[in-house]
Amino acid sequence: MTAPITAQHLSVKKSFRPGELWLDTDGKHINAHGGGILFHKGKYYWFGEHKVAGPDGNKAMAGVSCYSSKDLYNWKNEGIALAVAAENSGSEIEKGAVIERPKVIYNEKTKKFVMWFHLELKGQGYNAARTAVAVADKVTGPYTYLKSFRPHAGVWPANATEAHKTVPVIVKDNDPAWEQKVADGALLQRDFEGGQMSRDMTLFVDDDGTAYHIAASEENRTLHISKLTDDYTGFTDEYVRVFPGGRNEAPAIFKKGGKYFMITSGLTGWAPNAARSAVSEHMMEGWKQLGNPVRGTEEEKNTTFSSQSTFVLPVQGKKNAFIFMADRWRPKNPIDGRYIWLPLIFEDGKPVLKWQEEWTLDTLMQKNESDD
Ligand code: DGJ
Repeated sequence: MTAPITAQHLSVKKSFRPGELWLDTDGKHINAHGGGILFHKGKYYWFGEHKVAGPDGNKAMAGVSCYSSKDLYNWKNEGIALAVAAENSGSEIEKGAVIERPKVIYNEKTKKFVMWFHLELKGQGYNAARTAVAVADKVTGPYTYLKSFRPHAGVWPANATEAHKTVPVIVKDNDPAWEQKVADGALLQRDFEGGQMSRDMTLFVDDDGTAYHIAASEENRTLHISKLTDDYTGFTDEYVRVFPGGRNEAPAIFKKGGKYFMITSGLTGWAPNAARSAVSEHMMEGWKQLGNPVRGTEEEKNTTFSSQSTFVLPVQGKKNAFIFMADRWRPKNPIDGRYIWLPLIFEDGKPVLKWQEEWTLDTLMQKNESDD
């Protein structure tokens, strides 16, 4: 049962309470699931999936929500940043489509805000597996929808082997060696002409302004990291396969001390599973697994505190201060999904997550100071 809303919920917040109802400044539970955050001109903007009540509540009925905050605890509803199109309009983003994991980045050259998200076309389940892009002149929107597609049609990844390009790997649906054949490139080859599948995704902008799109491809078996064009609204031909057959979803990427770190989940639908972490000196090669970042009870380790990663937020103006953002999904009533925000700390060069009932940004700083 949902706990009653108390005066404490409505007062100005001074801490994070992972998993509890998180009310915005209007007193409503924040509706920005699978989200991502952009810091712009002194404010944080949280974009996420707007969900509704009931078992069908994962379908996009309104679009992508946006909230703003100066302190990360108190969030103002800025309304719907990208609105769905009218039902039966034939638009790719019409009401009833699935819009997941929206992420927004700012392009310094074009002065545009660019939103990418995972799109599933209405009435097609999760078969479309497309990525989609929208742009705006103002951070809070309205965002104008541009297009959706499966990326890299007719292009091999930079780390494709000669065998990938020349020796067909044939796989049938009930093939006992399905996982291995897919890891070996069966779906990469199958989708070579039409474009690669793109589901759970995130974006990362590097210090030099290069933006990357990181997505679960090949039936969520293999991650694809792709370089976006200079204006961030399209894909270049540069991409790589990462952890083939690794079944990684929900990627979140951040950079610390010149290295790139990645947190992902495993592949179990809405049910939580154990998180993974990885590191690399370069975005497009050399990724190495670092294991489960969670420290705690067996249950916490096996379920990532009953949640799934969505974003890692660098806290502005503080060195090495990162927040791990995750979703505790409620598939039977998606609007009631909860947010798990925890300090992301480092131990022995590895990202580490520990449960906190309640915490503040000050704690985060103290933990990180002892680190680097
Ligand atoms: C897990 C993904 O991480 C979610 O974003 C969503 O796509 C669900 N699967 C759907 O089952």
